[in-house]
Amino acid sequence: MATQQRTQVGIIGAGPAGLLLARLLKVHGIESVILEARSRAYVEARIRAGVLEQGTVSLMEEAGVAGRLHRDGLVHDGVEITVAGRRFRVDFCELVGKTVTVYGQTEMTKDLIAARLAGDGPIVWEAADVALHDIDSGRPGLSYRLAGVEHTLACDFIAGCDGFHGASRPSLPAAKSRSFERTYPFGWIGILADVPPCSDELIYASHARGFSLASMRSPTRSRYYIQCALDERIEDWPDARIWDELELRLASNPPPRITRGPSIEKSVAPLRSFVSTPMQHGRLFLAGDAAHIVPPTGAKGLNLAASDVHYLCRALIAHYRTGNDDLLGAYSDTALARVWKAERFSWWMTMLLHKLYDETSFEAQMQRAELDYLAGSRAAQTALAENYVGLPF
Ligand code: PHB
Repeated sequence: MATQQRTQVGIIGAGPAGLLLARLLKVHGIESVILEARSRAYVEARIRAGVLEQGTVSLMEEAGVAGRLHRDGLVHDGVEITVAGRRFRVDFCELVGKTVTVYGQTEMTKDLIAARLAGDGPIVWEAADVALHDIDSGRPGLSYRLAGVEHTLACDFIAGCDGFHGASRPSLPAAKSRSFERTYPFGWIGILADVPPCSDELIYASHARGFSLASMRSPTRSRYYIQCALDERIEDWPDARIWDELELRLASNPPPRITRGPSIEKSVAPLRSFVSTPMQHGRLFLAGDAAHIVPPTGAKGLNLAASDVHYLCRALIAHYRTGNDDLLGAYSDTALARVWKAERFSWWMTMLLHKLYDETSFEAQMQRAELDYLAGSRAAQTALAENYVGLPF
């Protein structure tokens, strides 16, 4: 039998954006219902990014869910960059007085789900055919199917936090939307393994064989990436081949201590820059990957979702507390100003560190000169550090 429910904010997607928004709204007395197309097991197993800006950590604190993050998260004062075997360090703490925290998005998601299910409100898992209705009116709604039964949810507002492939973005009127996209002629192979990290900090490496990145999740779990061809098949990359390639690309003096081990997870992903404008229409507001994608090189994706959520939450609080909708009206412009700067930084890091050009080309010489400048210039390193730790909200 069809059922009808109502809530203040209908949230589509139980990724970090939707979950963080729901939790922050609840802290401020605003009710929501979250609809998620996947199962809880799927969402909690999804391997994603792992670097949190201080602003993102502060939002987890405001949401009252930062206990495990503070206990298990690894505070990093800087990153290492290796260029053709020569390694240098960018010291965030010294240059801009800030740090980042290494804590898996998977763990952040689990913390937020646990808090939500401890009494905040429902998450409807495996909601099929989610559709948005009447977003132009004052009474928008959502419909979905659960185990073959139709349900509807009447809301004051809809938050589209359902990622790049979700139903929210296509619900904005096409005639009023514009999107901007950049694809890159390579992908990343990622490997997760229960071995100690090869270094205390992340290492971004530019090498003639292609980019690589040494990251981590904990003192006993490592995450590595290597640049690969777009059509690379993961079946062609047994673990040993990935470890061999990492040894070659990360080689430096002093050498990183790479410990090999069986992969827990292994995948190939393309890189993409994408922005859809505006991020709102009527009563629908997009947040996170539903509105924009960054290539992972700058570790900005999750942090951008968090800053969108901050702006949206603040605007909804103003609406319910004071009836003032100025912040809601300005949401897209406010969020996009920060989004575009993170897009620029992610694109810049990507173009700087990947193998893109024939070694004999002028572009390859520009890339080499820019890396050399970064290695030797406090000003250049400060610009990297300021963006990497996260621009202010
Ligand atoms: C990760 O640990 O998954 C990670 C870290 C830094 C990046 C991208 C991914 O830039």
